[in-house]
Amino acid sequence: MQTIRSLEALRSGIADFRSGGASIALVPTMGALHSGHLALIEAAKRPGRKVVASIFVNPRQFGPNEDLSRYPRRETADARLLTEAGCDLLWMPPVEVMYPDAFATTISVAGVSEGLDGASRPGHFDGVATVVAKLFNQVRPDIALFGEKDFQQLAVIRRMVADLDFGIEIQGVPTQRDDDGLALSSRNIYLDEAQRAAAVALPRALGVAAKAIARGDDPEGALAIARDALVTAGFSVDYVELVDAATLATATDPSRERRLLAAARIGTTRLIDNLAIPPADHA
Ligand code: PAF
Repeated sequence: MQTIRSLEALRSGIADFRSGGASIALVPTMGALHSGHLALIEAAKRPGRKVVASIFVNPRQFGPNEDLSRYPRRETADARLLTEAGCDLLWMPPVEVMYPDAFATTISVAGVSEGLDGASRPGHFDGVATVVAKLFNQVRPDIALFGEKDFQQLAVIRRMVADLDFGIEIQGVPTQRDDDGLALSSRNIYLDEAQRAAAVALPRALGVAAKAIARGDDPEGALAIARDALVTAGFSVDYVELVDAATLATATDPSRERRLLAAARIGTTRLIDNLAIPPADHA
């Protein structure tokens, strides 16, 4: 696997892939890789396709009181994991390559960016959309893969790609979980032993609520029970919401696919998770 840090070298590496007839898959990451990222690489691999991963801890998607300075950075270990996983090229731009002096453009996706994490993390999705648009223009992939754990991020990227005619296929990859159900996240390493044990309440509360909603219970009641379960486990709840999976507006139509999303803080660590609720069967 080649590791590339300049745009010139990236363009020539991509041109080599293309001239050999390969298509290109991009897996954008912020590093601190875990099995969730490796599942994206695995899902990206196809005969005749080259897999490019990017690692860039994007300052524009962190708020002033968020964890940019302590966000885990593990370049050597990450490069080894990517090589073992069969990644062909690692794009690791320095911050001055991504955001040169005088950089002045922000991409803002209205609607899907606005509620949920968008409400608690102002500017976060503008930062994500801007850097992902740049990565798309730098790598020019045919397909890009993102984890469903960041479900709102996936919706924002899908909207941006459709609105701006990127012509890139976006593939969501199911959330990878620890044995007890906790969604894998680079931020899980912030949890101490007691917090890690308590964190399992998040997937459990969502699982209970998802079952109740899927069998037709009143969604508001199920969401309230989930919020209470999280508080009892020591979380401070940001949101637990049931939304339409395509628009992320509050779900009103059980015949459409819905998604149950939650964000909650344990200690100083904010965790997110979500579960699909299939359309109600009217047969
Ligand atoms: O999901 C992430 O790791 C980041 O938000 C992304 C998509 C790489 C953009 O910085």
